[in-house]
Amino acid sequence: MEFFEVVNKRYSARKFEEKQIPEEDIKKLIEAASKAPSAKNAQNWHFVVIQDKAIIEKMGQAVDAKNEKIAKGLEPEKGEKFLKFSRFSTFFRNAPTVIAIYAKEYIPEGLKEVIASGMPQEDQDRMWYANPGIQNIGSAVENIVLGAYALGYGCCWMTSANPALLELEEVIPFNREKHKLVAMLPIGIPTGEPKSPAKLPVEEIMTMIK
Ligand SMILES: Cc1cc2nc3c(=O)[nH]c(=O)nc-3n(C[C@H](O)[C@H](O)[C@H](O)COP(=O)(O)O)c2cc1C
Repeated sequence: MEFFEVVNKRYSARKFEEKQIPEEDIKKLIEAASKAPSAKNAQNWHFVVIQDKAIIEKMGQAVDAKNEKIAKGLEPEKGEKFLKFSRFSTFFRNAPTVIAIYAKEYIPEGLKEVIASGMPQEDQDRMWYANPGIQNIGSAVENIVLGAYALGYGCCWMTSANPALLELEEVIPFNREKHKLVAMLPIGIPTGEPKSPAKLPVEEIMTMIK
């Protein structure tokens, strides 16, 4: 598929067939991630590909339990509303493969010097806001997302299970001191309607300065 066709037709898939993705295709996708640009070529990512159904289900249960706990801590109406949308944080349990995305902390280039030279806190805050470490992860994940679509798969970038990051890290048998879970990407052969919400027009998101 031509690049812009992939970009234009991609959508977030949240329902999948049970059929598994061959390892060969998974490797292709992770290789696509490995080619992504990263600040100072830091490549501060790691991808844990989970195809063990029991572990995926345990992850789903961990997110369910955390969502329930959060809801109980809210006013009843807000708790109910929170739980109503919790399906957007748990549908990954129906995917044949879930890629758990891990990031190593990246200290923004120049931050130490900004601190040492006594620049105001505002300068540091803005540098963390523009955190290149997490931008790196975005660039790698997008390569996987577009690659998946190009190969005929569907996936959905997910962060709404992040209130349960610590619990998920307990359930996923991957342990590297410096890598922390930041997102998940359920992936498989998509079922259901390929639909995507409207996007802002170019005129609204672009400012041209000539
Ligand atoms: C960083 C990020 C986090 C997201 N987290 C979730 C999520 O937790 N659950 C979900 O259902 N969709 C999630 N999405 C998908 C967005 O809802 C989706 O991309 C957006 O609504 C636009 O729809 P489209 O991808 O079909 O174009 C996430 C997307 C991104 C980029």
